[in-house]
Amino acid sequence: MIVAIDGPAASGKGTLARRLAQHLGFHCLDTGLIYRAVARDQAHRGFRLDDLWAAVATARGLDPRELEDPDLRGTAAGDAASIVARIPEVRAALLAYQRDFARQPPGAVLDGRDVGTVVCPDADVKIFVTATPEVRARRRFAEFEARGAGIAYEAVLQDILIRDRRDTGRANAPMTIAADAVLLDTTNLSIEAAFDAAVGLIKRKIGHQGR
Ligand code: C5P
Repeated sequence: MIVAIDGPAASGKGTLARRLAQHLGFHCLDTGLIYRAVARDQAHRGFRLDDLWAAVATARGLDPRELEDPDLRGTAAGDAASIVARIPEVRAALLAYQRDFARQPPGAVLDGRDVGTVVCPDADVKIFVTATPEVRARRRFAEFEARGAGIAYEAVLQDILIRDRRDTGRANAPMTIAADAVLLDTTNLSIEAAFDAAVGLIKRKIGHQGR
């Protein structure tokens, strides 16, 4: 069984994906980390982020075991990721890994921007998590503050707006709601309430499939 969770930056999709995977005993993949790692490796190799062929080689050489790097979680890494993520050949190079991951038994939860539309169009459950940019920025800002990251709320909001624009505006695999996805607006929902709503949705889906 495959659960696809898509949505914009800081929508809470990562937290939701991790909690669902834990609850279901499924594997979990944060596909954003893959793009963040490609951008990191590209910079380490001394290439510009938009150097197409170097970025493709970096993506092909990515070691998915190296996604646990805490530096990948910052705003700079997210911004850099959204630049390499615009390159269709980079996306293509990362597709097989994501699809193989998704097919692992007993099931997998993947979160990102194009999981329900491109990576796993046949996913059993598709959820598109969203919230207003201001609420997303406030949540992300609180996380950064807790880590002592010393970044202003305004800067976090700007980063979110820029990435939203890049991710929805790109020609290849733009962030969009799959026709068969359920929209989960967490603007006024706690993590707990969002989790309960998602579990309810999955249960209904499994019921319909006769499992
Ligand atoms: O989800 P996260 O914020 O970590 O993603 C970082 C960036 O990677 C996004 O802004 C987006 O440009 C890119 N991304 C993508 N497709 C995915 C996941 C992330 O293009 N499936």
